[in-house]
Amino acid sequence: MSQVYNLISDWDLNDELSYCLRNRDLEQKFLYMDDWAYCYYNVVEKDKIYYWSYSHNNFLDFWLKNIFLKNKNITIISLWCWNSEIESFIFENLKKNFQINYYWVDSSKNMLELSIKRMNKIKNIEKYFICADFSTNEFRRELSQFTSGSSMRIFTFFSNTFWNINPNNIIDILYNLLKTWEKIWLDVRLRSWTTTKDDMKDFEKYYWYLWNKISENHFKFPLEEINIDPKKWFMWLNSVKINPLGAIKYEYSFTLNTKTTIIIRNEKITILPKESLKILNVYTYDPDWLINFFEWHNFKLIDKFINEWRWQFLFEKK
Ligand SMILES: C[S@@+](CC[C@H](N)C(=O)[O-])C[C@H]1O[C@@H](n2cnc3c(N)ncnc32)[C@H](O)[C@@H]1O
Repeated sequence: MSQVYNLISDWDLNDELSYCLRNRDLEQKFLYMDDWAYCYYNVVEKDKIYYWSYSHNNFLDFWLKNIFLKNKNITIISLWCWNSEIESFIFENLKKNFQINYYWVDSSKNMLELSIKRMNKIKNIEKYFICADFSTNEFRRELSQFTSGSSMRIFTFFSNTFWNINPNNIIDILYNLLKTWEKIWLDVRLRSWTTTKDDMKDFEKYYWYLWNKISENHFKFPLEEINIDPKKWFMWLNSVKINPLGAIKYEYSFTLNTKTTIIIRNEKITILPKESLKILNVYTYDPDWLINFFEWHNFKLIDKFINEWRWQFLFEKK
């Protein structure tokens, strides 16, 4: 059985877009609105190293080892979850008969359609599709109500999700949302190592996305849609160290060459030449510091799966 809930209104989205533009800092969700959701598919399709060199079986194995052997009745809440690609794979391949409530949570209506399609053939679980911004109080209230009878909730962040989120913001939201014993399952990109030389190597890797047509389209289509002329900006990358996490944040921005006026709901926003607009953040982590960070916030590490630069972690609220 599946149910669909939409907690996002176009009216609120426009307000938020206007707020972000005034602050010169776009929220990530604006990259995935409307048809731009499909651009992400092209990025995934072409980024062979990140997506296709890491088998979905790594998730299935981790899941079986840590979760399903011990619990038969599970609620999975998959945050910022795109088309449920990894979750669908797991559900399709589970051999035992578990009782699963699956909550898909994403702010993009197009992603919602893609996910409903992807999950269509999976029949033996309860599916709830919630189109919502995870950071809003409204969503958190609704989720608490929806899942009030659940015995064990597991919050998952798969693929390129946790690396786009400000960890200081999300960790407190999660702490307040979870009950004792409930879990967070992370899939995270790591820094190569912690020396300056390694940081320079990583910088080069993320810098490459600036010159890659597919990722460039993923960044630029949303800007074109709000009338920023693609010939009138250039894109650049900055990196910042985030303490006490030992993380490196890569910030992708656009700088405009000419004065630009954007109109949202009859209100003008003017951006001057040489001003920049932040469009996406990418956080890469040091594993030990990430574990410490969760410990400091009262989460205990249950298990980790190590695979060079992409690790899975399972944390439990103390
Ligand atoms: C990089 S993609 C996600 C990747 C996905 N987890 C995967 O496995 O590849 C980011 C997703 O997060 C969603 N998103 C971005 N900001 C969000 C927010 N504030 N609340 C809910 N979803 C959000 C986007 O619509 C998009 O589907």
